[in-house]
Amino acid sequence: MAGTDNQRIDGGRLARRIERLAEIGRREDGSCYRLALTDADQEGRDLVLGWMRALGLDIRIDRIGNIIGIRRGAEDLPPVMTGSHIDTVATGGRFDGCYGVLAGLEAVETLDEAGIVTRRPLAVAIFTNEEGVRFQPDMLGSLVHAGELPLEEALAIVGQDGATLGAELERIGYAGSEPPGAMTPHAYVELHIEQGPVLDRAGEALGAVAELQGISWQEVTLRGVSNHAGTTPMSLRHDAGYGAAALASFMRALAIEMGGTQVGTVGAIRLIPNLINVIARQAIVTVDLRNTDETLLREVEARLAAFLRRLAEDEGLTIETRRLARFAPVVFDPHVVGRIEAAAAALGQPIRRMVSGAGHDAQMLATVMPAGMLFVPSIGGISHHWTENTADADIVRGAQVFVEACRRLLARAV
Ligand code: HGY
Ligand code: MN
Ligand code: MN
Repeated sequence: MAGTDNQRIDGGRLARRIERLAEIGRREDGSCYRLALTDADQEGRDLVLGWMRALGLDIRIDRIGNIIGIRRGAEDLPPVMTGSHIDTVATGGRFDGCYGVLAGLEAVETLDEAGIVTRRPLAVAIFTNEEGVRFQPDMLGSLVHAGELPLEEALAIVGQDGATLGAELERIGYAGSEPPGAMTPHAYVELHIEQGPVLDRAGEALGAVAELQGISWQEVTLRGVSNHAGTTPMSLRHDAGYGAAALASFMRALAIEMGGTQVGTVGAIRLIPNLINVIARQAIVTVDLRNTDETLLREVEARLAAFLRRLAEDEGLTIETRRLARFAPVVFDPHVVGRIEAAAAALGQPIRRMVSGAGHDAQMLATVMPAGMLFVPSIGGISHHWTENTADADIVRGAQVFVEACRRLLARAV
């Protein structure tokens, strides 16, 4: 599929970069394990930074470790920004985040090869800790860029492994000097795999993301009394393990009852002492709630809180909750969404409007600049899993439409 004015992207080059980055942190099952601010994340950052430098981009690294490579424009105007993340979950695929960052580099190289000088600069960003697996909240680097999380608070965050975010940033050499958010782009557009089943089931290739779900993350700690599994009558138990199981089944029933876009996930349960013949004295449970409607998301949070109060009373447990992340639903900028749709139309590509179930850096940036996203299908709707995959043709088509959308937002100078 040719780009307009002969701005055809080099699909092979993009695929090679995706594969090369996926080698870093690769595990035997083929998954990518590049948790934020680990050695593997550092290696991935070094690789992509090398590509940015080779493309002659002006590099800025801010104090939360966001990396921004800038391609100069004809005029010194606020840039069009694109990008995403290269950190992964522990069982990551090769496209989540990386596709958006590397398509940004492909846009730079395609414009260079076409000899196009755009009116505005083009900035390609790698945001720190989008996944939020090691350090919460997720989308942290873009959250700090947007001014929604104070820098010092972010640097002091202690991760699941006990490491401090600021110390890890120093250790891997990516504690930059730029103040986060110093740049206020004209617009932000992010290319990403859908990570869900909508496009794949519909047999469609492109999605213009009009809105993105609200996200509520909590850590629930349930404390009971450890005792012998064989000698303790059921009536005398204060079983944190049962509490965790009751919480998980309540969450599922509530999400199904709410219907619509409501989803609820208990993704991690840690029992202490976690032994077959000992009643658990403690359970640490994560709860991920999402909905496109803020009022309904608050209703679900309130019903969860009421359930936990009842559970504590009924089972003689003490239950504490800790907020890990809370983001309101986002409606993307109609102008940016329109440019994405116009780019698809210009290339003769059908495109559907859709909602994102996953969180993205665009969600944070939308609070401070006009933002939008473009999706390509995920085969089987699978992501955050080593079998995450997207057809080559979809990868190329998405990147081609993305470059065209960037060009429209950048407005040619010559
Ligand atoms: O959780 C999310 O939706 C994102 O992948 N961080
Ligand atoms: Mn992502
Ligand atoms: Mn992800």
